[in-house]
Amino acid sequence: MLNIALLSRGPGLYSTQSLFRAARKRGHYVRVVDHGQCSLIIEQGQPQVMYEGTKLIGMDALIPRIGASVTDYGAAVIRQFELMGVYTATRSEALKMARDKLKCLQILSANGIAVPRTFIAGMTEAMPRLMDFLQGPPFVVKTLESTHGAGVMLAESRNSAVSMMEAFEKLGKPVIIQEFIEEASGSDIRAFVVGNQVVASMLRKAQAGEFRSNMHLGASASIVELTPTEEKIVLESARLMNLDVAGVDILRSKRGPLVIEVNASPGLEGIETTTKVDISAAIIENLERGVERFASRQK
Ligand SMILES: Nc1ncnc2c1ncn2[C@@H]1O[C@H](COP(=O)(O)OP(=O)(O)O)[C@@H](O)[C@H]1O
Ligand SMILES: [Mg+2]
Repeated sequence: MLNIALLSRGPGLYSTQSLFRAARKRGHYVRVVDHGQCSLIIEQGQPQVMYEGTKLIGMDALIPRIGASVTDYGAAVIRQFELMGVYTATRSEALKMARDKLKCLQILSANGIAVPRTFIAGMTEAMPRLMDFLQGPPFVVKTLESTHGAGVMLAESRNSAVSMMEAFEKLGKPVIIQEFIEEASGSDIRAFVVGNQVVASMLRKAQAGEFRSNMHLGASASIVELTPTEEKIVLESARLMNLDVAGVDILRSKRGPLVIEVNASPGLEGIETTTKVDISAAIIENLERGVERFASRQK
């Protein structure tokens, strides 16, 4: 039996509940801990976490479910637990790396994973050449920390792409510009990785008139079978991002599957209800193996 802390700001959320139940079912003790309410005590040789008036002690494992609005503090809380010797299903550095779209694409592409052609640049003379490289318009403009599609825009012309870049630059929010994969026609694939396996995958189709296939934007989902190539790049992407649990998103393009992002805290509701796979159970079983490996390394 493990003593598990489920880091989540929403005890009533589907993903939190699903993981909670799965952990209980496997006989573990599990407590939902709101990382937003954790105080970190920084003291020589004694990292500690205060929560609801007491120090959290005796934890064996952590399952972080960190929302995008609190990535930095969430990562600091995870790091504190890591320093206390607690095993975590998602490492703090891996969370931070996946949350940064630019860093994620830099690392994946440098390691041979196919991604949409992308650039980030200041306002330079190179702009027209860079735009040629993307073979647009249209172009996809993305803020680095977009989630649920909320920072992803379509620029129909070179001029509008430049205005978007300038506007976001002024707001202190740099963007990346990407080639628009038209042939994906508003669909993408979410592949869910647990350990070194793809446990479930679904095809998400955007609503009519929308190119973003986020479930939060009303996309519909269906079960999809991955090709062996897709499965390979999905697993490789999760591995490169140091994630044991990941949602890897790919676009089916003319030149093969392209990875667009790797999610470190992928939602469970859409994929569990669509595929009927008990992903939470897979996450808990994988956690048990992780704790065991971790403990044997500490000895
Ligand atoms: N380069 C692209 N070409 C075509 N569609 C894209 C491209 N990039 C993203 N999309 C669509 O927009 C959605 C949101 O983009 P994504 O990069 O995943 O941002 P977010 O993190 O906000 O979900 C994707 O699920 C996909 O449907
Ligand atoms: Mg996405």
